[in-house]
Amino acid sequence: MADYDYDVLIIGSGPGGYVAAIRAAQLGLRTACVESRETLGGTCLNVGCIPSKALLHASEYFDAAANGTMAKLGIKVTPELDLPQMHAQRLDAVNQLTGGIAFLFKKNKVTWLKGRGAFVDAHTVQVGEQTVTAKDIVIATGSSVTPLPGVTVDQKIIVDSTGALELDKVPEHMVVIGGGVIGLELGSVWRRLGARVTCVEYLDQILPGFDGDIRKESNKVFKKQGIEFKLSTKVTGVTVNGDKATLTVEPSAGGPAETIEADCVLVSIGRRPNTDGLALENAGLSTNPRGQIDTDHRFQTSVPGVWAIGDVIPGPMLAHKAEDEGIAVAENIAGHTGIVNHAVIPSVVYTWPEIAGVGLTEEVAREQATKNGGEIKVGKFPMAGNSRAKTNHDPDGFVKIIADAKSDRVLGVWAIAVPAGTMIAEAALGMEMGATSEDIAYTCHAHPTHSEAIKEAAMAVRGKAIHV
Ligand code: FAD
Ligand code: NAI
Repeated sequence: MADYDYDVLIIGSGPGGYVAAIRAAQLGLRTACVESRETLGGTCLNVGCIPSKALLHASEYFDAAANGTMAKLGIKVTPELDLPQMHAQRLDAVNQLTGGIAFLFKKNKVTWLKGRGAFVDAHTVQVGEQTVTAKDIVIATGSSVTPLPGVTVDQKIIVDSTGALELDKVPEHMVVIGGGVIGLELGSVWRRLGARVTCVEYLDQILPGFDGDIRKESNKVFKKQGIEFKLSTKVTGVTVNGDKATLTVEPSAGGPAETIEADCVLVSIGRRPNTDGLALENAGLSTNPRGQIDTDHRFQTSVPGVWAIGDVIPGPMLAHKAEDEGIAVAENIAGHTGIVNHAVIPSVVYTWPEIAGVGLTEEVAREQATKNGGEIKVGKFPMAGNSRAKTNHDPDGFVKIIADAKSDRVLGVWAIAVPAGTMIAEAALGMEMGATSEDIAYTCHAHPTHSEAIKEAAMAVRGKAIHV
């Protein structure tokens, strides 16, 4: 048997890669992780999940003080924005968490090989001057921003998500291109801090992939908060003149063009897998037409001993999906059985209120049921009927549960509610355990909590909720 430098070598230290590395080391494998950034943690910890949530959290407080919510609670304050401090606390969160991964690597004896990795062959990776061999190699190189043809990101006037996290002043008018998760989260941050925000979305509704009712209601909620939407509209060009940008937009289906002036443009039209420079061909690998690396359900690629996880493979580009795949791939490499149920991966938009879902949308569930000669049942409960949401002056949103009409098995749960991201964990657990709407309706939920709305939506599937 060949003598390798490591049992497992992981390329990329995002939530997929670092979790895979720690798990592999815990399972007794000699593990190294290649990362070209200055710090570990990938997109998520450095320029994604964590810094965006730090700004969302801080701007929520600012907005609550500025928009009268706190005054309603009997707390009169006139907020003053200290943007450098807001950024400092963001960086503090990033530094603490990325440093935490470095600590966990040391603790678990994972070697960090600093530099860019490229395949020499299926068991050999070049990292700078070093050539490293491993019995198994995991590609966890993540994704980066999809560029908009003809629009050059300068991180000053035209920014991507990384630039939008670092603006040193509140723009007067920010135009967000793309009404997806990034556009809505980062658009919300700068709207709350005082910017006028216009969101240009190519499709006829924001948040593609989410349940139809949720998409409509979210649009209403954001409009109420002052975000303007231009739906079914495409951006055909952006020119920068001094410190202003001019966007040319036209109806997606074609029609007369118009211009919009902005002093900041956020390009957030999606992300694409990172495979450039990996020399995949040296390992005998190629990408699919979407630029992703295909794997089997064990996360092994078409080449034995080469595995792939996270944003670089098909599926939702989410940190928790990457983490779960990281655990599973390490277990599979170690000879155990690692599984990820891709049918039950929650999605959360961390706005105010939060928007969350798991499983099928009503549209997809209905289509699938019709194809199979079945039916679905839907139960909805408004947050305005939930005592805690009402007491906290947060009546926007609802919970919706979709179940199979015959078996009563829950097929999907969707929510707009202040803590929807936390609430959806209950739905994911229930669905993972094969719960019926009856199981949820007869589970005692603590009062007064927002989660009671999940129980009431389950009661609505079966007849009628109490508080409507
Ligand atoms: P990544 O985190 O992208 O990590 C890949 C790493 O590999 C990078 O550090 C990169 O430098 C490194 N790398 C790439 N190529 C090489 C190479 N050849 N050699 C060495 N190193 C290499 N998801 C959520 O679930 N919740 C959120 O709240 C959330 N918020 C987000 C906010 C923003 C602004 C953005 C941009 C993304 C957000 N995401 C969120 C998505 C989330 O960040 C990704 O799904 C997640 O980071 C994917 O993990 P990964 O391990 O596959 O890859
Ligand atoms: P996205 O795929 O969520 O949304 C992109 C939007 O841009 C879509 O609505 C699309 O129709 C629109 N669009 C595409 N081309 C356009 C054009 N030319 N003009 C106008 N609109 C156009 O992508 P986004 O927001 O960039 O996020 C990337 C990824 O990061 C997502 O897949 C998401 O999973 C992940 N992410 C997750 C977060 C979370 O879990 N809370 C937070 C932020 C990002």
